[in-house]
Amino acid sequence: MDIFERIRANMGPLGQYADIAEGYYIFPKLTGEIGSRMMFNGQEVICWSINNYLGLANHPEVRKIDAEASAEWGLAYPMGARLMTGETDQHIRLERELAAFVKKEAGCLLNYGYQGMTSCIDSLVSRRDVIVYDAESHGCIIDGVRLHLGKRIAFEHNNIESFEKQLVRAVKMAEEGGGSVLVITEGVFGMRGDQGKLKEIVAFKSKYPFRLLVDDAHGFGTLGPNGEGAGVEQGVQDEIDIYFGTFAKSMASIGAFIAGPPDIIKFLKYNMRSQVFAKSLPMPLVVGGLKRLELIRTNPSLKQQLWKNVNALQNGLREAGFDIGITNTPVTPVFLKGHPMEASQMVHDLRANHRIFCSMVIYPIIPKGEIILRLIPTAVHTQEDIDLTLAAFKAISGKLQRGEYKAEVVNPLMQQEAAGA
Ligand SMILES: Cc1ncc(COP(=O)(O)O)c(C=O)c1O
Repeated sequence: MDIFERIRANMGPLGQYADIAEGYYIFPKLTGEIGSRMMFNGQEVICWSINNYLGLANHPEVRKIDAEASAEWGLAYPMGARLMTGETDQHIRLERELAAFVKKEAGCLLNYGYQGMTSCIDSLVSRRDVIVYDAESHGCIIDGVRLHLGKRIAFEHNNIESFEKQLVRAVKMAEEGGGSVLVITEGVFGMRGDQGKLKEIVAFKSKYPFRLLVDDAHGFGTLGPNGEGAGVEQGVQDEIDIYFGTFAKSMASIGAFIAGPPDIIKFLKYNMRSQVFAKSLPMPLVVGGLKRLELIRTNPSLKQQLWKNVNALQNGLREAGFDIGITNTPVTPVFLKGHPMEASQMVHDLRANHRIFCSMVIYPIIPKGEIILRLIPTAVHTQEDIDLTLAAFKAISGKLQRGEYKAEVVNPLMQQEAAGA
């Protein structure tokens, strides 16, 4: 079959809903200043869907430096890959400051977290090596693992028994094949909000030989006494061999970094294909990154405000009887039971009538019959935002329990689907 014909016949798991859901559930447009209140479909909503954890996206000092740096440098400078013509003092300074902040000796900037992580994994391992990774890892880890030409073994999510079992297998395979073992997990799992069991994993280092790479996209800025991340929070940062953070969340920007021993970081700088074959990060992102890091380091009140809101929201949900699972981070999943259709109706009700914008997770990402509404509190949410949201959640869960989302088609998009449009 012709490639285009095959694609036209099957637009993929989300693409198949494009006609009925685009602009509402898929590619919704949130407009206005980034904050706890944004505009959606012409009305103000309380926004719980973006990872602007520390509220830096609209911090006046951040906006000022971004504007000044853009005026001074434009988006072009520096041109070319770092290795060729794209090096600057500011890039080097940001790497040093990031590494020092996360208590590592050296750092390396990455242009995007996703690409950087895939490339980092690709460069770290040889075909003789065996990768052991958490089964619920983010797509950037999964895709990095897919690039690996050697063996790879997933362990059950955060299950230490399963981890040890797979690690033992991996060590044996690696010994037989003349390679080594790389373990990959996350500091914080972005869907359920549980921290990776870093402490338990590093404890195996005394028993089995392996190196550990940790994706701390959600932990950087939110965990640890000053936001140094999940490794510092759990007291095991020294045992993490390569630490990864992205600028897409607490830093409210674009870019990412890895940090670790100087010789290994040097190797990665010379070998990560995402960096060697791609243009250097534009200067405004680097200068803006330096300012953001300074604010994180010097303004503990940002993280304190974040956690005040996290606690108010999570305690309020628990007190109201909601199941928010085992989160011990700002990521706040609300677990409900129902059909995907009911989930869509409920989210529509939340957006259109309660003016609450949050993301939903349904089958096939999680088992049939389960619904997760995911809330991301930030430092810029207010107590009023939280109170209104708690009231709305009580209202919608009551409706869900009474089966009202089954009976009453409140969502015109779903009406279209039901009518076979
Ligand atoms: C756990 C995790 N790793 C990596 C990434 C990718 O980062 P970026 O958006 O910088 O590509 C994300 C999402 O942004 C993430 O949630």
